[in-house]
Amino acid sequence: MGRGIFITGTDTGVGKTVIAAGLAAYLKSQAITVAAMKPVQTGAKKVNGRLESEDLRLLLRAASLEEPLEITNPYCLELPAAPSLAARVAGIKIDPRRIIEAHHNLAARYQVVIVEGAGGLMVPLSDNYTLVDLIKQLKLPLVIVARANLGTINHTALTVSCAQSQGIRVEGIILNHTQAGNDGIVEENNPRIIQQLTGVPVCGVIPYSADISVEETRLGNIADLIDKHLNLSWLKKLWPVKQK
Ligand SMILES: Nc1ncnc2c1ncn2[C@@H]1O[C@H](COP(=O)(O)OP(=O)(O)O)[C@@H](O)[C@H]1O
Ligand SMILES: [Mg+2]
Repeated sequence: MGRGIFITGTDTGVGKTVIAAGLAAYLKSQAITVAAMKPVQTGAKKVNGRLESEDLRLLLRAASLEEPLEITNPYCLELPAAPSLAARVAGIKIDPRRIIEAHHNLAARYQVVIVEGAGGLMVPLSDNYTLVDLIKQLKLPLVIVARANLGTINHTALTVSCAQSQGIRVEGIILNHTQAGNDGIVEENNPRIIQQLTGVPVCGVIPYSADISVEETRLGNIADLIDKHLNLSWLKKLWPVKQK
């Protein structure tokens, strides 16, 4: 049975997909078999008359994965809204069992399964069921992606606090630059301040790279950036160790 990692963000648009795809591509380059899934996509666009997840497209490319959409993306919804609302408008209800079964299916066949969340931790999938509940049921450790610049301390600390209060293990925090710009005193100090405040390792800071684009399905040099800028000791623990 493979292990998994759940990638959440402090917010939408912080770089969950980029980091999840980067980790998948990096693991693959290390000869680890890796699968990825996006259990719930909202704000999906129609391609050839069919709703498609652009997050999933990048994840599949990163992992060179070919698996049925029912497994890699059980729910693909058009409305750009919280999943519970997007599902209601589409006339369906999100059933967590479908997501958990899909994850088990992949975990049985791949060494690592990378799961990208939707929005942040307290986002509802149905009236009384949030991403936190899903992560607990999947029994997966968490990696938090956060913005690298001003405003990130509060969002990151709240996310860590929420996860830990629910018994979810937080493996690490990855800060990410979604826009070009030079680092100032805030960006330089955020990693240290966040690590001190939360007690969770900040794995590192991923720089902005114009070659990367989720919308245009471009991985650019993300696997190299992951390798170069992050301390991945936690990730290496998840790899099965070969017995002699
Ligand atoms: N390190 C980066 N360099 C360049 N662009 C990035 C980087 N990280 C994220 N982006 C861009 O920022 C936007 C948001 O990133 P995304 O991974 O889609 O966030 P999320 O999955 O959290 O919503 C996308 O347009 C993506 O291409
Ligand atoms: Mg995303």
